[in-house]
Amino acid sequence: MKAALSLAVLLSATAAFARPRPVQTTWTHDQIVDKTSAGLRLLQLGPDQSPVWFSEEGKLELMRAEVRFVDVTETYEDKLAIKAAVAEAKLASPQRVSFPSPSHQTAVKALLPNLSISRMNSTLTQLTALNNRYYRSSTGAQASTLILNTVNSIISGRSDISAALYAHSWTQSSIIAKVAGATNNTAPMVILGAHMDSINLSSPTSGRAPGADDDGTGTVNSIEILRVLVEAGWKPATPVEFHWYSGEEGGLLGSDAIATAYKKAGKQVKAMMELDMSGYFAPGSKEVIAIEADYIDSGLNTFTKSLVTSYSAITYAMDTPCGYACSDHASWYDQGYPTTMLYEAVTGDDNQRIHSSSDTITVSGFSWSHSLEFAKVALGFVYELSA
Ligand SMILES: *[C@@H]1O[C@H](CO)[C@@H](O)[C@H](O)[C@H]1NC(C)=O
Ligand SMILES: *[C@@H]1O[C@H](CO)[C@@H](O)[C@H](O)[C@H]1NC(C)=O
Ligand SMILES: *[C@@H]1O[C@H](CO)[C@@H](O)[C@H](O)[C@H]1NC(C)=O
Ligand SMILES: *[C@@H]1O[C@H](CO)[C@@H](O)[C@H](O)[C@H]1NC(C)=O
Repeated sequence: MKAALSLAVLLSATAAFARPRPVQTTWTHDQIVDKTSAGLRLLQLGPDQSPVWFSEEGKLELMRAEVRFVDVTETYEDKLAIKAAVAEAKLASPQRVSFPSPSHQTAVKALLPNLSISRMNSTLTQLTALNNRYYRSSTGAQASTLILNTVNSIISGRSDISAALYAHSWTQSSIIAKVAGATNNTAPMVILGAHMDSINLSSPTSGRAPGADDDGTGTVNSIEILRVLVEAGWKPATPVEFHWYSGEEGGLLGSDAIATAYKKAGKQVKAMMELDMSGYFAPGSKEVIAIEADYIDSGLNTFTKSLVTSYSAITYAMDTPCGYACSDHASWYDQGYPTTMLYEAVTGDDNQRIHSSSDTITVSGFSWSHSLEFAKVALGFVYELSA
């Protein structure tokens, strides 16, 4: 998750980075190859803006100033081709969705008590023991292996479920676990996403970044959901994928790569939910499940609200708009897929220790019972939309 940007920070960032004005709106393949081999990255800073080249250091400065962007260096050309294909109706254009209220409440409610805080905690303890999970560090790559091994041990013996690394040009891989649809495996898939990487903004490569809340919580929520579903012998009628993205903190890198590849391949997605931070709400504030208000499908958000009402002990509240490039759901939204995202608190009551060495479970305000509520709702999302 990207921390909220204050006006003061925005002004200082704008002054500090007097951004190069894009002299052209389209970059050629050869220009991209040249600039990329010179170590530059192509960053998009707003929804309708032409992307601009930055050095890795310049990119880090943007991150420190909490200026949001998508690093489109490796997806830029595919995205242009996709836009053209959508315009020519060779690829599907975005469709608004709506879903009936949860209709498998008996089955889902029987599963919820098996979601285990101690299992989530023990997986998170292993993840936070790594110095950091930065997407360009070797410990970031170790996090991929750790998650893949954990998922593989959950799904062993299930020939209809597979998990694999999704490699990128940088060190850390994303991970995708695919559950085949028992009735129709070519029907549109349901995706539950979280990001595995963490960052220490002052010293990304070597600094300590436990990333317990951001996004260790979302990561272990979805691992635990998969475990409970598999233990129950769950077989979805239609396909489901669990994604753990690399490089969210570096400009939605992993999710942008995967969402772009899926759209290019013509894959159909019924609904995508992102879990990015579920473990904290400010001491003294009202405990809620915040629902993101932008870069989402409003019909899917209506369904998400009914999931919270059906499956959680706490109520939902709409968050204030999070803005451009807020988290991985935005990558799927950008490709025209229906998205929704749960967030730990309304912005302002959320965790201020993220992106630092003190994003740990010992922070006052961290609550496993709070995080468990998100696992319940997301389990309901997966089950209901794939039954
Ligand atoms: C979570 O794990 C830590 C480290 O092993 C331990 O100290 C803590 O008691 C655990 N908390 C819960 C709720 O299981
Ligand atoms: C499976 O889903 C696809 C895509 O929605 C649909 O075209 C096809 O008719 C479905 N097949 C069956 C057997 O229902
Ligand atoms: C819940 O977990 C227990 C063991 O931990 C298992 O025996 C039981 O079958 C599980 N319930 C469901 C609905 O999967
Ligand atoms: C980054 O890591 C270093 C060393 O691990 C630590 O001293 C520093 O406080 C961290 N920075 C932040 C923002 O937490």
